[in-house]
Amino acid sequence: MRGIDRMATWRRRGIDTVSESGQFLGWMLGGAAAALIVFAATAFGQDTSPVPAGKRLFNDQGCYGCHTIGKVGTPIAPDLSTVGSKYSEAYLRAWLMDPKKQKPGAHMPKLSMNEAEARSLAAYLASLR
Ligand code: HEC
Repeated sequence: MRGIDRMATWRRRGIDTVSESGQFLGWMLGGAAAALIVFAATAFGQDTSPVPAGKRLFNDQGCYGCHTIGKVGTPIAPDLSTVGSKYSEAYLRAWLMDPKKQKPGAHMPKLSMNEAEARSLAAYLASLR
């Protein structure tokens, strides 16, 4: 579903005009770092800010099944309302990818998520202060 959104976004932004001429592909394969950054910003949805995406993921991934943010959630794991003032975004991202690697014996399970999702979630959590 998200893939369809992305394609719609591309079309709205007129990037298909560029790709028609084959330039977009050549530009991408050229491997310029700037091109990749623009691509990443475009590919991850209408809103280029990872924070709203992370907020959605917090629901989609069922984090609230163990955690609370404000009054919402289940208080069996630490409250995350101010977790952004406790850890850096980089630590949070690493934690989400594999809690036990950050803290041996951690009681949070390793959830299935890709790096992009962990990045968005970490950005969202880091914004909670
Ligand atoms: C099955 C329950 C469970 C789920 C689901 C879960 N967590 Fe946790 N989480 C925990 C527990 C338990 C801890 C405490 C781990 C420890 O310190 O041993 C924890 C710790 C954390 C911490 C560190 C908190 C602190 O103050 O040290 C963060 C950040 C966190 N979880 C984020 C998330 C996010 C984001 C999700 C959803 C992707 C999530 N958790 C899903 C159980 C869960």
